[in-house]
Amino acid sequence: MICIGIEGTAEKTGVGIVDSEGNLLASQGNPLIPENGGIHPREAAEHHAANIIPLMKAALEESGLELKDMDMVAFSRGPGLGPALRTVATAARSLALSLDVPIVGVNHCIGHVEIGRLTTRAKDPVTLYVSGGNSQVIAFDANRYRVFGETLDIAIGNCLDQFSRSVGLGHPGGPKVEKLAKGGSYIKLPYTVKGMDLSFSGLLTAAIRKYEAGAAIEDVCYSLQETAFSMLVEVTERALAHSKKREVMLCGGVAANTRLREMLKVMADEHYAEFHMPPMKYCGDNGAMIAWMGQLMHKHGLVGGLEDTGVIQRYR
Ligand code: KG4
Repeated sequence: MICIGIEGTAEKTGVGIVDSEGNLLASQGNPLIPENGGIHPREAAEHHAANIIPLMKAALEESGLELKDMDMVAFSRGPGLGPALRTVATAARSLALSLDVPIVGVNHCIGHVEIGRLTTRAKDPVTLYVSGGNSQVIAFDANRYRVFGETLDIAIGNCLDQFSRSVGLGHPGGPKVEKLAKGGSYIKLPYTVKGMDLSFSGLLTAAIRKYEAGAAIEDVCYSLQETAFSMLVEVTERALAHSKKREVMLCGGVAANTRLREMLKVMADEHYAEFHMPPMKYCGDNGAMIAWMGQLMHKHGLVGGLEDTGVIQRYR
């Protein structure tokens, strides 16, 4: 059984092809790089509309398969930007209708966890999923995936991107902040963990103010990273202790950061837990994770009908 998956919750369009054994046959993606400012939902939708067909062709070529070989269509149902989600859902439905195959809408965040489990062989991890749009600590507990903690306002990637744009470093901010942080030393910034949840907006404002007040950019970048990552590691550690699991997994675009990886691994080691991270290609948003989620949902008897606007129906 072959599944084609379409990702498009935010600014990256992705198309992947995966078989029922978990062989990743193709994964093609194309991010929208904004000229200035952040991601506009309408522009993200237009980007998907322009890129889904070319990426589908590229994915078919990579896999050596033809469209008629696809047995099923999966698409990212959310969470994400409304106009972007609608564009992807429309493309997926049109494809499923023309091929006369089942279709399933999948949860983007769980897609990250499942492609992580597939590519790292982690069995049952506590996952820290950190990207431009999401910051969540997720684990499987009492028969379902649960969010143990998450951001109450902006995502960590968004925090780094907004900081970078505000101080004139450009987009995306994460890699730029990481590079500058290497030469910095610590200045105090607000640390906000509320219960199991996190808040980054106060930290972002304080970091911008420090820079505007004359602090060295290296020091602000270093302190921003140390503070934000300590908050993320604290919540992950508490979820690990609570769930008594033996594995920690890091995924999402911010997983590219070597300092975050290092801090999370130290915490995992202290708890005698294994540390896992998928290859970078499958860490950020990608179509293969959507196709693989489609396979898993089909395997467990969950597929949506063509008339389905979001609610997953049990397949009879
Ligand atoms: O998962 P992803 O590719 O897509 C979206 O969330 O849309 O994540 C993108 C995010 C951006 O916020 C970017 O700044 C961040 O990942 N990022 C990093 C690094 N490389 C990318 N953040 C910290 N350090 C990095 N080296």
